[in-house]
Amino acid sequence: MATTRTFSIIKPDATRRNITGAVVKMLEEAGLRVVASKRIHMTREQAEGFYAVHRERSFFGELVDFMISGPVVVQVLEGEDAMQRNRDIMGATNPANAAPGTIRKELAESIEANTVHGSDSDENAAIEIAYFFKPEEIVG
Ligand code: CMP
Repeated sequence: MATTRTFSIIKPDATRRNITGAVVKMLEEAGLRVVASKRIHMTREQAEGFYAVHRERSFFGELVDFMISGPVVVQVLEGEDAMQRNRDIMGATNPANAAPGTIRKELAESIEANTVHGSDSDENAAIEIAYFFKPEEIVG
């Protein structure tokens, strides 16, 4: 299995509760390495651009409002099959459906305040990484 990269966001519900370290610990214990990380407060424009694929969804406005409600931590994660590995440790989008031991089951508050975002394909990972990071900011 190849070493690959994926993109992760620790969302405002986690920065508000001061549990970003707990999230990173679970990512690291799942075999992922943080090779880039920065704490930012997204602008509305940035959040709308990032979630543009969801623009027609009923929850788009609330999603953007939530993502700009506080700081987030954007990260690049590296590991064997990083995208799938990250999705496995994140758990289902809705914490009510997430498996025990996953980040969303253990830490998330709701389907909106669900603590983490992770890319859903290697192609989207590359796009999402480039949206927030310059190549020289990624130190593997
Ligand atoms: P994320 O992986 O960041 O991608 C889109 C986000 O929309 C998703 O996680 C959820 O947190 C959020 N969201 C809010 N409401 C819904 C909903 N009803 N269905 C799916 N996703 C939702």
